Amino acid sequence: MTDPQRALAQLMSGALAAAFGPDYADADPVIRPSQFADYQSNVALPLAKRLNRPPRDVAAELAGHLGGSDVVATAEVSGPGFINLTLSDAWIAGQATGQLADPRLGVASVSPAQCVVVDYSAPNVAKEMHVGHLRTTVVGDAVVRVLEHLGQSVIRANHIGDWGTQFGLLLEHLLDIGEEAAYSQLAAGEINAFYQAAKAKFDVDPAFVERSRQRVVALQAGDPETLRLWTMLVSDTKQYYNAVYARLGVTLTEADEVPESFYNPMLADVCDELQAAGVAVISDGALCAFPPGFTGRDGSPLPLILRKSDGGYGYGTTDMAAIRYRIRDLHANRLIYVVGSEQAQHFEMVFAVARQAGWLTDAVSAEHATIGMVTGSDGKRFRSRSGGSVKLIDLINEAVERAEEVIKDRYDDPEQRSQIAEAVGIGALKYADLSVARESSYTLDFDRMLALTGNTGPYLQYATARIRSIFRRAQVDPGSATGPIRLTADPERQLALRLLGFGAAVHQVTEAAEPHKLAAFLFETASAFTTFYEQCPVLQAPDAAIRDSRLALSALTLRVLLAGLGLLGIPVPERM
Ligand code: ARG
Repeated sequence: MTDPQRALAQLMSGALAAAFGPDYADADPVIRPSQFADYQSNVALPLAKRLNRPPRDVAAELAGHLGGSDVVATAEVSGPGFINLTLSDAWIAGQATGQLADPRLGVASVSPAQCVVVDYSAPNVAKEMHVGHLRTTVVGDAVVRVLEHLGQSVIRANHIGDWGTQFGLLLEHLLDIGEEAAYSQLAAGEINAFYQAAKAKFDVDPAFVERSRQRVVALQAGDPETLRLWTMLVSDTKQYYNAVYARLGVTLTEADEVPESFYNPMLADVCDELQAAGVAVISDGALCAFPPGFTGRDGSPLPLILRKSDGGYGYGTTDMAAIRYRIRDLHANRLIYVVGSEQAQHFEMVFAVARQAGWLTDAVSAEHATIGMVTGSDGKRFRSRSGGSVKLIDLINEAVERAEEVIKDRYDDPEQRSQIAEAVGIGALKYADLSVARESSYTLDFDRMLALTGNTGPYLQYATARIRSIFRRAQVDPGSATGPIRLTADPERQLALRLLGFGAAVHQVTEAAEPHKLAAFLFETASAFTTFYEQCPVLQAPDAAIRDSRLALSALTLRVLLAGLGLLGIPVPERM
């Protein structure tokens, strides 16, 4: 077990039993990193109440059982009854040497595996992917990578918006301009222009509005010619966002597309079931669910509309069908929806209704992993100079172009230069997104994300390149550096201790779908490596054993950084 916090918890459990009897073995050990030692335990404070003894006495008794073991060098009571724990150097060194020999680098897998459905990315047909989709795409992709690495059985669900009333106007516009013209416009990626032209007519031309309305009816009724045109529209735009995924290195494939239209055949039955169960009722001609606790501005109960009075179904109905399908047919244990925070109420209502219907039970969890906004320097939603929404592909291109500016003096070979720029630009863009708590908004700032110092993608990429260059100079393959790791100076100790936390950091990502916790760990690790590298000569180490140990520590850092960046989906160039 490499994770120090878990090793300490286990040790504490033994100390609790030894000091106060077996009943106390599973008290929460409350172990946290500390400024004064490696870790600190606050267990004595709540325990003192239970035992009716002074907290410092309780702490002292526990400390007596903890200190001087193989794991803990010293356990000291401080303040009102805290226990400061300092790990033994030999233990840290031994664990780090073991971690280096472990193909999983100390990341335990979970058992039994759960079936987790992750709903993410979810762009809309005939609308350009915009900066908002960057976040739902890269955060979701990091979460699935980590879950899979831990051995969970993951189902990616790309809930593509390919259905709804907007298709009436889109299809009428397509007919107006002709299939050929529509095809070439969409294939060229001018999706927004296509949509806006349709919308412009819809806003001024009542005859067009009426045609659009009839077209929606035809689409829902399955009219073959309408379906043919709709299929064309859908497949043209799909090609376009699949290209964005490929460029970003996102693991979504066509097999993961479960678009809204997939659920069409289930909608009538979902409505029937909810109505029969008494969860949905007719209100003003529409079928609605009124989950308890949701009220509108005027205090009246807020409906989740399942079937409109004209018989049409909406976004909410589809989500009800999707949640039932995922639980009943896919047998999911956990549902994660990586979607913008503006849909928070929608998901709360969907979950509440699913609970009322008995679909969501204690055996299944559902969570909305809310995604905050990307803003411009004005703090408002990120927009182009002309005020329009910015295409994701333009952002990617700009990040790569700017990355090329940053590195251009270092590489003469244009091929190599553009390869590295691609990895640095895309890595910077994705990392900037992944390093921020997902529910917070952040300001998109190319200069900052591309900086070689600070918590950035390029800083982490550069750390790996620097370690590789140490090995090149040593003419040693990083894979053959096996240690043993010894601790002779504080920066070595700090780095080794940090590296042992890798498993815990990876597991933390899955607790609440929060990749930024792994990003923070990687940044701290790279920073600890920087200090080590500045203060502890590797190739010029005082003797061969220390040199081997430092090479091993460098190799372990490299492997942890590469594995962690891989789990985040950040590309890493060999050189930088
Ligand atoms: N397509 C939607 C949008 O762009 C997001 C869909 C999220 N997933 C879901 N199951 N509703 O806003």
